[in-house]
Amino acid sequence: MNEILHQLRCIGCGARIAGAEARPDFRCVVCGELFDVEYPGWSQRGGKDRPNPGGLKWVLRERRSSAEALDHSGVWRYRELLPILDNFGNVVSLLEGNTPLYHLTRMSKALKIDRLFVKHQGMNPTGSFKDTGMTAAMSVAKEWGFECVACASTGNTSAAMAAYAARAGLKSLVLIPEGKIAWGKLSQAMDYGAVTCQLKSDFDGCMHLLSQIVKEAPIYLLNSVNPYRLEGQKTPAFEIAEAFDWSVPDHLIVPGGNLGNSSALGKGFREMLELGLVSRMPRISVIQAAGANPLVRSFREHQATVLEPVMAHTRATAIRIGNPASWRKAARAIQETGGWCLDVTEAEIAIAKAEIGAEGLGCEPASAVTLAGLKKLRAEGKVSSSETVVLMLTGHTLKDADYTIDFHRGKLLGKEEIAGREAEIAGLRRDALAVDATPAAVLAALKGRAG
Ligand code: F0G
Repeated sequence: MNEILHQLRCIGCGARIAGAEARPDFRCVVCGELFDVEYPGWSQRGGKDRPNPGGLKWVLRERRSSAEALDHSGVWRYRELLPILDNFGNVVSLLEGNTPLYHLTRMSKALKIDRLFVKHQGMNPTGSFKDTGMTAAMSVAKEWGFECVACASTGNTSAAMAAYAARAGLKSLVLIPEGKIAWGKLSQAMDYGAVTCQLKSDFDGCMHLLSQIVKEAPIYLLNSVNPYRLEGQKTPAFEIAEAFDWSVPDHLIVPGGNLGNSSALGKGFREMLELGLVSRMPRISVIQAAGANPLVRSFREHQATVLEPVMAHTRATAIRIGNPASWRKAARAIQETGGWCLDVTEAEIAIAKAEIGAEGLGCEPASAVTLAGLKKLRAEGKVSSSETVVLMLTGHTLKDADYTIDFHRGKLLGKEEIAGREAEIAGLRRDALAVDATPAAVLAALKGRAG
Protein backbone atom coordinates (compact mmCIF):
# COMPACT_ATOMS: atom_id res chain seq x y z
CA MET A 1 0.00 0.00 0.00
CA ASN A 2 1.53 3.29 -1.01
CA GLU A 3 1.32 5.28 2.20
CA ILE A 4 3.66 7.96 0.95
CA LEU A 5 1.51 9.13 -1.93
CA HIS A 6 -1.95 8.71 -0.47
CA GLN A 7 -3.93 9.15 2.72
CA LEU A 8 -7.59 8.90 3.68
CA ARG A 9 -9.69 11.96 4.49
CA CYS A 10 -13.03 11.71 6.29
CA ILE A 11 -15.77 13.41 4.28
CA GLY A 12 -17.62 14.25 7.51
CA CYS A 13 -15.11 15.75 9.97
CA GLY A 14 -12.07 16.07 7.70
CA ALA A 15 -9.90 13.77 9.87
CA ARG A 16 -6.88 12.45 7.95
CA ILE A 17 -5.54 8.96 8.57
CA ALA A 18 -3.12 6.56 6.90
CA GLY A 19 -4.68 3.75 4.90
CA ALA A 20 -3.48 1.24 7.50
CA GLU A 21 -5.46 3.02 10.22
CA ALA A 22 -8.87 2.55 8.59
CA ARG A 23 -11.35 0.49 10.59
CA PRO A 24 -12.55 -2.76 8.98
CA ASP A 25 -15.91 -1.12 8.13
CA PHE A 26 -14.18 1.98 6.66
CA ARG A 27 -16.14 4.34 8.91
CA CYS A 28 -14.48 7.26 10.70
CA VAL A 29 -13.87 6.63 14.42
CA VAL A 30 -14.72 10.25 15.18
CA CYS A 31 -17.91 10.86 13.20
CA GLY A 32 -18.87 7.58 11.51
CA GLU A 33 -18.64 8.98 7.97
CA LEU A 34 -16.75 7.50 4.99
CA PHE A 35 -13.30 8.33 3.65
CA ASP A 36 -11.98 9.60 0.34
CA VAL A 37 -8.54 8.69 -0.92
CA GLU A 38 -6.47 11.85 -1.11
CA TYR A 39 -3.08 12.49 -2.73
CA PRO A 40 -1.31 15.22 -0.73
CA GLY A 41 1.52 15.45 -3.27
CA TRP A 42 -0.92 16.72 -5.90
CA SER A 43 -1.95 19.81 -4.01
CA GLN A 44 1.08 21.96 -4.77
CA ARG A 45 1.40 23.11 -8.34
CA GLY A 46 4.80 21.92 -9.54
CA GLY A 47 5.00 19.45 -6.62
CA LYS A 48 7.15 16.46 -7.50
CA ASP A 49 4.34 13.91 -7.16
CA ARG A 50 1.82 15.94 -9.12
CA PRO A 51 1.29 14.39 -12.56
CA ASN A 52 2.13 16.75 -15.38
CA PRO A 53 -0.97 16.93 -17.62
CA GLY A 54 0.88 17.24 -20.94
CA GLY A 55 3.32 14.50 -20.06
CA LEU A 56 0.58 12.21 -18.81
CA LYS A 57 -1.50 12.62 -21.96
CA TRP A 58 1.57 11.66 -24.00
CA VAL A 59 2.29 8.62 -21.83
CA LEU A 60 -1.34 7.50 -22.09
CA ARG A 61 -1.18 7.66 -25.88
CA GLU A 62 2.06 5.67 -25.88
CA ARG A 63 0.52 2.99 -23.68
CA ARG A 64 -2.01 2.18 -26.39
CA SER A 65 0.72 0.39 -28.31
CA SER A 66 2.50 -0.98 -25.25
CA ALA A 67 3.16 -4.69 -24.75
CA GLU A 68 3.05 -4.43 -20.96
CA ALA A 69 0.09 -6.23 -19.35
CA LEU A 70 -0.61 -3.37 -16.94
CA ASP A 71 -1.15 -1.03 -19.87
CA HIS A 72 -3.90 -3.27 -21.23
CA SER A 73 -6.11 -2.64 -18.21
CA GLY A 74 -8.35 0.39 -18.59
CA VAL A 75 -7.77 1.06 -14.90
CA TRP A 76 -4.02 0.57 -14.44
CA ARG A 77 -3.28 2.39 -17.68
CA TYR A 78 -4.04 5.46 -15.54
CA ARG A 79 -1.89 4.30 -12.62
CA GLU A 80 -0.36 7.74 -12.01
CA LEU A 81 -3.89 8.90 -11.16
CA LEU A 82 -4.45 6.17 -8.56
CA PRO A 83 -1.11 5.64 -6.82
CA ILE A 84 -2.49 3.40 -4.08
CA LEU A 85 -0.13 0.40 -4.40
CA ASP A 86 3.50 -0.02 -3.37
CA ASN A 87 4.11 -2.75 -5.84
CA PHE A 88 2.30 -3.16 -9.15
CA GLY A 89 3.21 -6.84 -8.93
CA ASN A 90 0.18 -7.07 -6.63
CA VAL A 91 -2.27 -5.94 -9.29
CA VAL A 92 -5.17 -8.37 -9.75
CA SER A 93 -6.59 -7.66 -13.18
CA LEU A 94 -8.97 -9.22 -15.68
CA LEU A 95 -8.15 -6.50 -18.24
CA GLU A 96 -11.11 -4.43 -17.17
CA GLY A 97 -12.11 -1.04 -18.47
CA ASN A 98 -11.47 0.17 -22.02
CA THR A 99 -15.22 -0.08 -22.45
CA PRO A 100 -16.92 1.19 -25.61
CA LEU A 101 -18.56 4.56 -26.03
CA TYR A 102 -21.44 4.15 -28.48
CA HIS A 103 -23.56 6.74 -30.22
CA LEU A 104 -27.27 6.11 -29.60
CA THR A 105 -28.48 6.58 -33.14
CA ARG A 106 -32.23 6.12 -32.81
CA MET A 107 -32.66 7.77 -29.45
CA SER A 108 -30.55 10.76 -30.45
CA LYS A 109 -33.05 11.36 -33.29
CA ALA A 110 -36.08 10.75 -31.09
CA LEU A 111 -34.83 13.12 -28.40
CA LYS A 112 -33.25 15.57 -30.83
CA ILE A 113 -29.87 15.40 -29.13
CA ASP A 114 -27.29 14.75 -31.85
CA ARG A 115 -24.46 13.94 -29.51
CA LEU A 116 -26.03 11.30 -27.30
CA PHE A 117 -23.67 8.51 -26.22
CA VAL A 118 -23.61 5.55 -23.88
CA LYS A 119 -20.51 4.42 -22.04
CA HIS A 120 -21.17 0.70 -21.87
CA GLN A 121 -19.65 -0.61 -18.69
CA GLY A 122 -21.56 -3.83 -19.10
CA MET A 123 -18.77 -4.73 -21.54
CA ASN A 124 -16.38 -5.33 -18.64
CA PRO A 125 -15.05 -8.87 -17.95
CA THR A 126 -17.80 -9.83 -15.48
CA GLY A 127 -20.42 -7.72 -17.24
CA SER A 128 -20.65 -4.68 -15.01
CA PHE A 129 -18.87 -1.48 -13.97
CA LYS A 130 -17.89 -3.11 -10.68
CA ASP A 131 -14.78 -4.64 -12.29
CA THR A 132 -12.99 -1.30 -12.46
CA GLY A 133 -13.41 -0.83 -8.72
CA MET A 134 -12.72 -4.43 -7.88
CA THR A 135 -9.32 -4.55 -9.57
CA ALA A 136 -8.23 -1.60 -7.42
CA ALA A 137 -9.53 -2.77 -4.05
CA MET A 138 -8.65 -6.46 -4.63
CA SER A 139 -5.08 -5.44 -5.42
CA VAL A 140 -4.97 -3.57 -2.11
CA ALA A 141 -6.34 -6.69 -0.33
CA LYS A 142 -3.57 -8.74 -1.91
CA GLU A 143 -0.87 -6.21 -1.05
CA TRP A 144 -2.08 -6.18 2.55
CA GLY A 145 -1.96 -9.96 2.77
CA PHE A 146 -5.67 -10.63 3.41
CA GLU A 147 -6.78 -14.21 2.83
CA CYS A 148 -10.50 -13.58 2.74
CA VAL A 149 -12.62 -10.81 1.17
CA ALA A 150 -16.35 -10.15 1.44
CA CYS A 151 -19.20 -8.01 0.16
CA ALA A 152 -22.92 -7.56 0.50
CA SER A 153 -24.48 -7.23 -2.91
CA THR A 154 -27.48 -6.87 -5.15
CA GLY A 155 -25.53 -9.15 -7.49
CA ASN A 156 -22.93 -7.36 -9.58
CA THR A 157 -20.47 -6.56 -6.83
CA SER A 158 -20.55 -10.20 -5.77
CA ALA A 159 -19.97 -11.42 -9.33
CA ALA A 160 -17.00 -9.09 -9.74
CA MET A 161 -15.58 -9.80 -6.31
CA ALA A 162 -15.85 -13.56 -6.74
CA ALA A 163 -14.00 -13.42 -10.07
CA TYR A 164 -11.18 -11.16 -8.88
CA ALA A 165 -10.80 -13.11 -5.63
CA ALA A 166 -10.47 -16.31 -7.65
CA ARG A 167 -7.77 -14.67 -9.79
CA ALA A 168 -5.96 -13.50 -6.65
CA GLY A 169 -6.29 -16.90 -4.96
CA LEU A 170 -8.31 -15.44 -2.07
CA LYS A 171 -11.39 -16.85 -0.39
CA SER A 172 -14.54 -14.78 -0.94
CA LEU A 173 -17.75 -14.42 1.03
CA VAL A 174 -20.91 -13.04 -0.55
CA LEU A 175 -24.04 -11.92 1.33
CA ILE A 176 -27.08 -11.47 -0.89
CA PRO A 177 -30.78 -10.87 -0.25
CA GLU A 178 -32.57 -14.16 -0.93
CA GLY A 179 -34.70 -14.14 -4.07
CA LYS A 180 -33.90 -10.54 -4.90
CA ILE A 181 -30.95 -10.85 -7.23
CA ALA A 182 -30.90 -11.74 -10.91
CA TRP A 183 -29.92 -15.33 -11.76
CA GLY A 184 -27.10 -14.34 -14.07
CA LYS A 185 -25.33 -12.63 -11.20
CA LEU A 186 -25.94 -15.41 -8.70
CA SER A 187 -24.63 -17.95 -11.20
CA GLN A 188 -21.42 -15.94 -11.56
CA ALA A 189 -20.71 -15.94 -7.82
CA MET A 190 -21.16 -19.72 -7.85
CA ASP A 191 -19.09 -20.21 -10.98
CA TYR A 192 -16.16 -18.19 -9.61
CA GLY A 193 -16.27 -20.14 -6.37
CA ALA A 194 -17.48 -17.69 -3.72
CA VAL A 195 -19.07 -18.81 -0.45
CA THR A 196 -22.51 -17.39 -1.22
CA CYS A 197 -24.96 -16.83 1.62
CA GLN A 198 -28.53 -15.93 0.72
CA LEU A 199 -30.06 -14.10 3.67
CA LYS A 200 -33.68 -13.54 4.52
CA SER A 201 -33.07 -9.81 4.42
CA ASP A 202 -32.63 -6.98 1.94
CA PHE A 203 -29.40 -5.42 0.65
CA ASP A 204 -29.34 -2.90 3.48
CA GLY A 205 -29.68 -5.73 6.04
CA CYS A 206 -26.87 -7.70 4.36
CA MET A 207 -24.64 -4.63 4.45
CA HIS A 208 -25.38 -4.02 8.12
CA LEU A 209 -24.59 -7.62 9.04
CA LEU A 210 -21.35 -7.61 7.08
CA SER A 211 -20.16 -4.45 8.85
CA GLN A 212 -20.43 -6.43 12.09
CA ILE A 213 -18.75 -9.54 10.69
CA VAL A 214 -15.64 -7.70 9.44
CA LYS A 215 -15.09 -6.33 12.94
CA GLU A 216 -14.91 -9.87 14.29
CA ALA A 217 -12.74 -11.62 11.70
CA PRO A 218 -9.81 -10.65 9.44
CA ILE A 219 -11.97 -10.24 6.35
CA TYR A 220 -11.41 -7.39 3.89
CA LEU A 221 -14.60 -5.53 3.03
CA LEU A 222 -15.01 -4.89 -0.68
CA ASN A 223 -18.21 -2.86 -0.85
CA SER A 224 -17.96 0.66 -2.16
CA VAL A 225 -17.57 2.00 1.38
CA ASN A 226 -14.01 0.80 0.75
CA PRO A 227 -12.48 3.98 -0.70
CA TYR A 228 -10.05 2.05 -2.93
CA ARG A 229 -13.03 0.69 -4.90
CA LEU A 230 -13.89 4.23 -5.91
CA GLU A 231 -10.34 4.86 -7.09
CA GLY A 232 -10.86 2.19 -9.74
CA GLN A 233 -14.38 3.32 -10.50
CA LYS A 234 -13.24 6.86 -11.24
CA THR A 235 -11.26 5.69 -14.29
CA PRO A 236 -14.24 5.62 -16.71
CA ALA A 237 -14.24 9.40 -16.24
CA PHE A 238 -10.68 9.41 -17.61
CA GLU A 239 -11.70 7.17 -20.50
CA ILE A 240 -14.58 9.47 -21.38
CA ALA A 241 -12.39 12.58 -21.31
CA GLU A 242 -9.76 10.81 -23.41
CA ALA A 243 -12.39 9.67 -25.91
CA PHE A 244 -13.44 13.31 -26.38
CA ASP A 245 -9.79 14.35 -26.75
CA TRP A 246 -9.67 15.75 -23.22
CA SER A 247 -12.72 17.90 -23.54
CA VAL A 248 -15.63 16.73 -21.39
CA PRO A 249 -19.26 16.08 -22.27
CA ASP A 250 -21.82 18.58 -21.01
CA HIS A 251 -23.81 16.06 -19.06
CA LEU A 252 -23.18 12.64 -17.53
CA ILE A 253 -26.15 10.62 -16.32
CA VAL A 254 -25.58 7.82 -13.81
CA PRO A 255 -27.90 5.31 -12.11
CA GLY A 256 -28.02 5.60 -8.32
CA GLY A 257 -28.11 2.63 -5.92
CA ASN A 258 -25.59 2.59 -3.09
CA LEU A 259 -24.24 5.75 -4.78
CA GLY A 260 -20.60 4.72 -5.03
CA ASN A 261 -20.43 5.02 -8.79
CA SER A 262 -21.71 8.57 -9.10
CA SER A 263 -19.34 9.52 -6.26
CA ALA A 264 -16.39 7.90 -8.02
CA LEU A 265 -17.12 9.51 -11.38
CA GLY A 266 -17.46 12.89 -9.68
CA LYS A 267 -14.07 12.34 -8.04
CA GLY A 268 -12.51 11.37 -11.35
CA PHE A 269 -13.68 14.51 -13.11
CA ARG A 270 -12.84 16.71 -10.10
CA GLU A 271 -9.28 15.37 -9.99
CA MET A 272 -8.80 15.81 -13.73
CA LEU A 273 -9.89 19.41 -13.34
CA GLU A 274 -7.58 19.99 -10.38
CA LEU A 275 -4.65 18.48 -12.27
CA GLY A 276 -5.31 20.54 -15.37
CA LEU A 277 -6.16 17.55 -17.58
CA VAL A 278 -9.55 19.09 -18.43
CA SER A 279 -10.92 22.60 -18.12
CA ARG A 280 -14.34 21.90 -16.57
CA MET A 281 -16.56 19.19 -15.11
CA PRO A 282 -19.67 17.77 -16.77
CA ARG A 283 -23.00 18.18 -15.08
CA ILE A 284 -23.55 14.91 -13.18
CA SER A 285 -27.14 13.75 -12.70
CA VAL A 286 -28.20 10.70 -10.72
CA ILE A 287 -31.34 8.74 -11.49
CA GLN A 288 -33.04 6.35 -9.07
CA ALA A 289 -36.00 4.01 -9.38
CA ALA A 290 -39.14 5.61 -7.91
CA GLY A 291 -39.48 2.75 -5.42
CA ALA A 292 -35.88 3.08 -4.24
CA ASN A 293 -35.33 6.83 -4.23
CA PRO A 294 -33.86 7.92 -0.89
CA LEU A 295 -31.49 10.43 -2.48
CA VAL A 296 -34.24 11.99 -4.58
CA ARG A 297 -36.28 12.46 -1.41
CA SER A 298 -33.31 13.83 0.44
CA PHE A 299 -32.87 16.50 -2.27
CA ARG A 300 -36.60 17.20 -2.42
CA GLU A 301 -37.21 17.38 1.31
CA HIS A 302 -33.89 18.32 2.93
CA GLN A 303 -31.67 19.85 0.20
CA ALA A 304 -29.51 16.74 0.64
CA THR A 305 -28.55 17.59 4.22
CA VAL A 306 -29.97 14.38 5.68
CA LEU A 307 -31.06 11.09 4.18
CA GLU A 308 -33.97 9.09 5.51
CA PRO A 309 -33.75 5.41 4.55
CA VAL A 310 -36.71 3.95 2.62
CA MET A 311 -38.00 0.39 2.14
CA ALA A 312 -36.80 -0.22 -1.39
CA HIS A 313 -38.89 -1.88 -4.11
CA THR A 314 -38.03 -2.06 -7.78
CA ARG A 315 -37.66 -4.74 -10.43
CA ALA A 316 -34.30 -3.14 -11.24
CA THR A 317 -32.88 -5.30 -8.46
CA ALA A 318 -29.34 -3.90 -8.81
CA ILE A 319 -30.50 -0.58 -7.37
CA ARG A 320 -32.98 -1.89 -4.85
CA ILE A 321 -31.29 -0.03 -2.01
CA GLY A 322 -33.01 2.06 0.64
CA ASN A 323 -30.07 3.26 2.73
CA PRO A 324 -27.23 4.14 0.36
CA ALA A 325 -23.80 4.34 2.01
CA SER A 326 -22.18 6.92 -0.25
CA TRP A 327 -25.07 9.38 -0.46
CA ARG A 328 -23.07 12.36 0.82
CA LYS A 329 -20.35 11.86 -1.75
CA ALA A 330 -22.92 11.52 -4.55
CA ALA A 331 -24.84 14.57 -3.36
CA ARG A 332 -21.60 16.53 -3.51
CA ALA A 333 -20.96 15.46 -7.12
CA ILE A 334 -24.48 16.51 -8.11
CA GLN A 335 -24.33 19.84 -6.28
CA GLU A 336 -20.88 20.91 -7.39
CA THR A 337 -21.65 20.22 -11.04
CA GLY A 338 -25.19 21.62 -11.11
CA GLY A 339 -26.70 18.23 -11.88
CA TRP A 340 -30.11 16.85 -10.97
CA CYS A 341 -31.39 13.93 -8.96
CA LEU A 342 -34.66 12.41 -10.08
CA ASP A 343 -36.58 9.17 -10.16
CA VAL A 344 -38.33 7.15 -12.84
CA THR A 345 -41.16 4.63 -12.74
CA GLU A 346 -41.04 0.91 -13.43
CA ALA A 347 -42.72 1.42 -16.81
CA GLU A 348 -40.26 4.17 -17.76
CA ILE A 349 -37.35 1.88 -16.89
CA ALA A 350 -38.76 -1.03 -18.89
CA ILE A 351 -39.43 1.14 -21.95
CA ALA A 352 -35.96 2.72 -21.84
CA LYS A 353 -34.36 -0.71 -21.49
CA ALA A 354 -36.22 -2.00 -24.54
CA GLU A 355 -35.18 1.08 -26.52
CA ILE A 356 -31.52 0.53 -25.65
CA GLY A 357 -31.97 -3.11 -26.64
CA ALA A 358 -33.48 -2.09 -29.96
CA GLU A 359 -30.28 -0.14 -30.72
CA GLY A 360 -28.36 -3.43 -30.63
CA LEU A 361 -26.71 -2.56 -27.34
CA GLY A 362 -28.86 -3.78 -24.47
CA CYS A 363 -28.28 -3.29 -20.78
CA GLU A 364 -29.69 -4.40 -17.49
CA PRO A 365 -32.74 -2.64 -16.02
CA ALA A 366 -30.77 -0.54 -13.51
CA SER A 367 -28.72 0.95 -16.36
CA ALA A 368 -31.82 1.96 -18.30
CA VAL A 369 -32.84 4.48 -15.64
CA THR A 370 -30.30 6.79 -17.28
CA LEU A 371 -32.21 7.00 -20.56
CA ALA A 372 -35.54 7.23 -18.75
CA GLY A 373 -34.11 10.08 -16.66
CA LEU A 374 -32.73 11.87 -19.71
CA LYS A 375 -36.17 11.79 -21.35
CA LYS A 376 -37.61 13.52 -18.30
CA LEU A 377 -34.84 16.10 -18.16
CA ARG A 378 -35.31 16.79 -21.88
CA ALA A 379 -39.07 17.16 -21.47
CA GLU A 380 -38.50 19.62 -18.63
CA GLY A 381 -36.12 21.65 -20.80
CA LYS A 382 -33.11 20.87 -18.61
CA VAL A 383 -31.08 19.38 -21.45
CA SER A 384 -30.74 21.23 -24.75
CA SER A 385 -30.31 19.71 -28.20
CA SER A 386 -26.78 21.11 -28.58
CA GLU A 387 -25.42 19.32 -25.51
CA THR A 388 -23.15 16.31 -25.51
CA VAL A 389 -24.72 13.75 -23.20
CA VAL A 390 -23.25 10.48 -21.95
CA LEU A 391 -25.37 7.82 -20.24
CA MET A 392 -23.51 5.35 -18.03
CA LEU A 393 -24.76 1.84 -18.82
CA THR A 394 -23.64 -0.11 -15.80
CA GLY A 395 -24.54 -3.73 -16.57
CA HIS A 396 -24.85 -6.17 -19.45
CA THR A 397 -28.26 -7.21 -20.77
CA LEU A 398 -27.53 -10.91 -20.08
CA LYS A 399 -27.29 -10.25 -16.34
CA ASP A 400 -31.07 -10.30 -15.98
CA ALA A 401 -32.53 -12.26 -18.88
CA ASP A 402 -35.72 -13.02 -16.92
CA TYR A 403 -36.61 -9.32 -16.84
CA THR A 404 -36.12 -8.99 -20.58
CA ILE A 405 -38.13 -12.10 -21.42
CA ASP A 406 -40.95 -11.11 -19.08
CA PHE A 407 -41.11 -7.67 -20.71
CA HIS A 408 -41.31 -9.06 -24.24
CA ARG A 409 -43.92 -11.63 -23.17
CA GLY A 410 -46.00 -8.88 -21.59
CA LYS A 411 -45.63 -10.39 -18.11
CA LEU A 412 -43.39 -7.81 -16.50
CA LEU A 413 -45.62 -4.90 -15.66
CA GLY A 414 -49.07 -4.70 -14.08
CA LYS A 415 -52.06 -3.02 -15.76
CA GLU A 416 -51.91 0.10 -13.55
CA GLU A 417 -48.20 0.48 -14.18
CA ILE A 418 -48.59 0.71 -17.93
CA ALA A 419 -51.81 2.74 -17.96
CA GLY A 420 -51.64 5.23 -20.82
CA ARG A 421 -48.49 3.67 -22.31
CA GLU A 422 -49.98 0.44 -23.69
CA ALA A 423 -49.32 1.32 -27.34
CA GLU A 424 -45.75 2.44 -26.70
CA ILE A 425 -45.00 -0.80 -24.88
CA ALA A 426 -46.72 -2.96 -27.49
CA GLY A 427 -44.56 -1.30 -30.15
CA LEU A 428 -41.39 -2.36 -28.34
CA ARG A 429 -42.34 -5.93 -27.46
CA ARG A 430 -40.67 -8.66 -29.52
CA ASP A 431 -41.90 -11.94 -28.11
CA ALA A 432 -40.66 -15.14 -29.74
CA LEU A 433 -43.31 -16.51 -32.10
CA ALA A 434 -44.53 -20.08 -32.20
CA VAL A 435 -44.33 -20.91 -35.90
CA ASP A 436 -44.75 -24.07 -38.00
CA ALA A 437 -41.49 -25.47 -39.31
CA THR A 438 -42.17 -24.50 -42.94
CA PRO A 439 -40.64 -21.74 -45.09
CA ALA A 440 -44.08 -20.24 -45.74
CA ALA A 441 -44.92 -19.95 -42.04
CA VAL A 442 -41.53 -18.42 -41.18
CA LEU A 443 -41.72 -15.93 -44.05
CA ALA A 444 -45.25 -14.99 -43.02
CA ALA A 445 -44.00 -14.34 -39.49
CA LEU A 446 -41.24 -12.11 -40.87
CA LYS A 447 -43.70 -10.17 -42.98
CA GLY A 448 -46.08 -9.75 -40.12
CA ARG A 449 -43.56 -8.07 -37.90
CA ALA A 450 -43.38 -4.33 -38.36
CA GLY A 451 -40.10 -2.41 -37.72
N1 F0G B 1 -26.23 -0.35 -11.98
C1 F0G B 1 -25.92 -1.63 -11.71
C2 F0G B 1 -26.02 -2.61 -12.81
C3 F0G B 1 -25.53 -2.00 -10.40
O1 F0G B 1 -25.23 -3.26 -10.14
C4 F0G B 1 -25.50 -1.03 -9.39
C5 F0G B 1 -25.13 -1.38 -8.01
C6 F0G B 1 -25.82 0.29 -9.73
C7 F0G B 1 -26.18 0.59 -11.03
C8 F0G B 1 -25.78 1.38 -8.74
O2 F0G B 1 -24.46 1.76 -8.49
O3 F0G B 1 -24.49 1.37 -6.06
O4 F0G B 1 -22.65 2.63 -7.14
O5 F0G B 1 -24.93 3.63 -6.98
N2 F0G B 1 -24.93 -2.55 -7.61
C9 F0G B 1 -24.39 -2.92 -6.29
C10 F0G B 1 -24.14 -4.40 -6.21
C11 F0G B 1 -25.06 -2.32 -5.14
O6 F0G B 1 -24.15 -4.95 -5.10
O7 F0G B 1 -23.89 -5.02 -7.23
P1 F0G B 1 -24.11 2.39 -7.08
